[in-house]
Amino acid sequence: MPRRRSVKLGLTIDHIATVRQARGGSEPDLIEAALEGIRGGANGITVHLREDRRHIQDEDVFRLKRAISVPLNLEMSINEGIVRVAAKLKPAKACLVPERREELTTEGGLNVVGEKGRIAAAVDRLQEKGIEVSLFVDPIPKQIQAAFDVDSNFIELHTGGYANAKGLIRKRELKRLREAAFLAHSLGIGVNAGHGLNYENVKPVARLPYIQELNIGHSIISRCVFVGIRKAVQEMCELIKHV
Ligand code: PXP
Repeated sequence: MPRRRSVKLGLTIDHIATVRQARGGSEPDLIEAALEGIRGGANGITVHLREDRRHIQDEDVFRLKRAISVPLNLEMSINEGIVRVAAKLKPAKACLVPERREELTTEGGLNVVGEKGRIAAAVDRLQEKGIEVSLFVDPIPKQIQAAFDVDSNFIELHTGGYANAKGLIRKRELKRLREAAFLAHSLGIGVNAGHGLNYENVKPVARLPYIQELNIGHSIISRCVFVGIRKAVQEMCELIKHV
């Protein structure tokens, strides 16, 4: 493996849509936010089209795909209606996540082992449309093995356990992420990671072996309130590029 790598940033902009939905109008403009993030160095734009449409709307994903020059990554559940939208949209990438109506944000990885049939069918339908598929999973070996079994191109390792932990427990969580990255790589699966990453905790994750891309939203959008999106993205890129 090369000594110094550049980890890519997928900028998650759901929170921009959350602010817009608070008043139901068109401000702040989602497309302008994405373009500013790209000017700051984001390598991709990620949005989660939730079943309840609480922030991102169907027309947003189509407008975004037309407007941006970097890959669009659609986070999505395997709900039939959402898979249909994705098949029509044909984003460059889709990341399958579990979804519960009452959750504040995605709370855990997919149970690929328990829902293998349904997940395999969704992976197939998306890949048929030329979409690269990733499965959001906890760093658990049997889930990664199952991601291989359903032919996923990538996994996105759920870093929430690491991000919420402190001290020795954080170290242990980092070790689990490292072992998971090794396992996925040995199976020929690409490795991304995300959830709960911020300016303080991101570097050790960016330095993990085989990590290609980090998807980060909350901390960057929080920071952009004070410095603007372009600068908030630049600051994150400085931390994760050339690790
Ligand atoms: N990756 C996945 C699969 C997610 O569901 C989320 C949250 O939307 C993120 C990454 C980004 O997490 P955060 O907003 O905590 O940076």
